[in-house]
Amino acid sequence: MKILIVNGPNLNLLGSRQPQIYGNESMEQYLDFLKECFKDVEIEYFQSNHEGDIIDELHRVGYDNEEYQGIILNAGAYTHTSLAIADAIAAIKLPVVEVHISNVAAREPIRHTSLITPVCRGVIAGFGMDSYRLAIESLV
Ligand code: DQA
Repeated sequence: MKILIVNGPNLNLLGSRQPQIYGNESMEQYLDFLKECFKDVEIEYFQSNHEGDIIDELHRVGYDNEEYQGIILNAGAYTHTSLAIADAIAAIKLPVVEVHISNVAAREPIRHTSLITPVCRGVIAGFGMDSYRLAIESLV
């Protein structure tokens, strides 16, 4: 079983970016932990700061590709702005689980709107990095 985790803009800075909100752990450190938790799952990771690259990756993995079970997507700020990413999720066949490290509903009003929630299988937000583990649980 194979799962792809996609992180959007600024999430390459996890571990050093606003640690009071996003914690002190880098994604690379956390991925090691995830791989320990899910020994039977092949976990692939993709990060980009560019909207089009994220869309290309969703197409590559989610369309006519039998290899993967699902995609876990933290679209970062594109969550709140990108109709193009929402369209890509709607276009692909694989389930996409929306993830946020912080509880976006408890933050600034602009973060309360997600353009991608309606086309995702579900949303996990507010559990810190553990949101990613809970999202994988929902797919396995
Ligand atoms: C985030 C929340 C977004 O509002 C923000 O733009 C991010 C990270 C989260 O994981 O909490 O970059 O998706």
